[in-house]
Amino acid sequence: MFVRQFNRYFLHKLPHSGDCLALKSLLSASVTEGNVVVVQQPNGGEPLQFPSVWLRDNCQCSACFHANTKSRQANWKRASVESRIRSINGGAEKDVLTIDWQDNHKSTFRLDWLQDRDFAPTNRKRYIEEVYKPTYQLWGKSEFSNVLRSFEFKDVMQQEEVLLAWLESLAIQGFSRIKNSPHDLTVARQLADRIGYIKRTTYGEEFEVKSKDNARNYAYLMTPLPLHTDMPYYEYKAGINILHCYVQSQSQGGSNLMTDGFYIAEKLRKEFPKLFEILVKTPVDWYDIGKDGGMSFHNIWRAPTICTKRDSHFTVPLEQVAPWYEAYDKFIELAYAEAVNFKTNPGDVFVFNNLRMLHGRTAYEDSPTNKRHLIGAYVDWDIIYSKIRIIRAKYSTKC
Ligand code: OGA
Ligand code: ZN
Ligand code: ZN
Repeated sequence: MFVRQFNRYFLHKLPHSGDCLALKSLLSASVTEGNVVVVQQPNGGEPLQFPSVWLRDNCQCSACFHANTKSRQANWKRASVESRIRSINGGAEKDVLTIDWQDNHKSTFRLDWLQDRDFAPTNRKRYIEEVYKPTYQLWGKSEFSNVLRSFEFKDVMQQEEVLLAWLESLAIQGFSRIKNSPHDLTVARQLADRIGYIKRTTYGEEFEVKSKDNARNYAYLMTPLPLHTDMPYYEYKAGINILHCYVQSQSQGGSNLMTDGFYIAEKLRKEFPKLFEILVKTPVDWYDIGKDGGMSFHNIWRAPTICTKRDSHFTVPLEQVAPWYEAYDKFIELAYAEAVNFKTNPGDVFVFNNLRMLHGRTAYEDSPTNKRHLIGAYVDWDIIYSKIRIIRAKYSTKC
């Protein structure tokens, strides 16, 4: 099934299926009155269009562009927006667009480079969805079995295509399950390292979720953990949470709850637009004050977000408080109505987008011989998207 998805992706990845044929004939181009360069593709595909100022700004000659660092050399200065084309495509080489500018500069652009940057809506859409970021698939409770993706730990660690499919599932569905990981305290770190590196927080690199005497975090109690996202009090919040189940509780509880926060926000927007507006507009004070691993901290982030760990400081005008509670209660009601409930087994790793998925846990009871123990680690989305792009580019077919 994976191979099929993989092929489908790469088959439509190329902007134009006739690329290879195109290399055999000459291209021609013209300039419109509005200074748009229109390139006729030799294979007869839709003409490509580029504003001339953009072409001038992106001249690829060695004076304008430093190929090794893939950077402009312009020191923020460039030729004027008014710079005009004297002639276009004169003495063209095969599949190269040549432009002579009125300021005596000369630029050349390769056809495949132009195709990749065509301003046509379909091409911009392709770039956003296939290179920038995969599109989210929002889901409610009834779709859970369709959106659940499971991967074998060993395959994620050994096969790059499986690593890619895992990261894509995190980007698209927002969560996934990894099965059959070894009974080893380093599993969360190994997975983070497989992507890039761990995001260190106040709670260290890896963090242990188990009941602790004198717990300094609510998660380190055996009580229910309501739906939340981690670190709402950080300006730079953790991207994904990798939660490795090392020992699961044999008591009734200890199962996880999860709901797609973006789906709930959309539902609220459609069904209760006034309440949605309030949640978007009212800034909330999120906080975390404490001590962990010998370090004291006092984190505050003020933002209109739905999370727990709200400070009792609520720095908005008095009359906004009660409406905010009404909107908040509706959001929470919808979130619980759409929450799925599942219990992980030792060796399972529950991984999810911490900026999207609300997650929680039911209460549990440790016994002298059974102490629930999870090990967590965070990774930032910048690192994950970068890895997705690198692997995709590696497997993309070039002619
Ligand atoms: C947490 C958390 C889930 C669990 O520690 O932030 O969400 O299953 N834990 O204990
Ligand atoms: Zn140049
Ligand atoms: Zn959490």
